[in-house]
Amino acid sequence: MKIAICGKGGVGKSTISALVVQALLDRGRKVLAIDADPSPHLARLLGLNHKNITPIAAMKDLLQERSQRNGPFYNMNPRVGDLPEKFMKRQGNLSLMVLGAIPQGGAGCACAENAVLRNLLNSLLLSKGEDIVLDMEAGVEHLGRGTIASVDHILVVVQPYRGSLETAEKIEKLAGDLKIRSLHVVANNIHDQADLDFIKKICGVEPSGAFRYSPGARSAEREGLPVAGADKELLDSAGELIESLESNT
Ligand SMILES: Nc1ncnc2c1ncn2[C@@H]1O[C@H](COP(=O)(O)OP(=O)(O)OP(=O)(O)O)[C@@H](O)[C@H]1O
Ligand SMILES: [Mg+2]
Repeated sequence: MKIAICGKGGVGKSTISALVVQALLDRGRKVLAIDADPSPHLARLLGLNHKNITPIAAMKDLLQERSQRNGPFYNMNPRVGDLPEKFMKRQGNLSLMVLGAIPQGGAGCACAENAVLRNLLNSLLLSKGEDIVLDMEAGVEHLGRGTIASVDHILVVVQPYRGSLETAEKIEKLAGDLKIRSLHVVANNIHDQADLDFIKKICGVEPSGAFRYSPGARSAEREGLPVAGADKELLDSAGELIESLESNT
């Protein structure tokens, strides 16, 4: 199962990514977690040693070498097959790849570097055997680039406030344009039934998963501890979410 976790900034994408990864591991699966956040911290939430991990997007020399950029020309299909082995962190059935932000235009075109990152992501998403959980950067921009068109499920994390639900609506529209079949709303930071009802009313769908507000998750994050060990109920919610996705496939 290949899942991308999207949503507005700060809604809980990385927290839910880490919980889903752990719930999959607990079910005996092999999991590749990909951190595609510009300021990555999924390693810490997963309890992996996060020191000395350079995001691949920040490896300018590597990206230039692979893209064979020469003035305006570059290789549209750069060699990436060896990169996962080199840059993955492994611990038991868990692998982590820190992709980092995909560089944007502005100060010089980053198309060549983008081609390397896109090729790498595509080859990982098309590979078989492992489950993939992709912790996306905030907002909708990445969907516009079509980088995650080959995932099985997009989860849009929302909280019970209008701003996060408006972002969810944009994500839904772009996912529709990309013909992604399976898009799910996941409610986070739920205090009570009224929060869930608000999400249902605004989104017009039943969330495929719901995570309640958890003081334990909040303090684990502050202390730099893995989130899955902090609150058994949140981990159970991640398990229920996986089951709901699997019954949907
Ligand atoms: N269910 C929850 N209960 C309590 N705190 C939560 C919950 N979910 C997330 N948080 C807290 O909210 C903050 C933001 O969460 P997180 O980093 O997962 O969001 P994000 O969407 O990945 O943010 P960003 O857009 O910056 O990548 C963190 O301090 C996290 O501990
Ligand atoms: Mg995050």
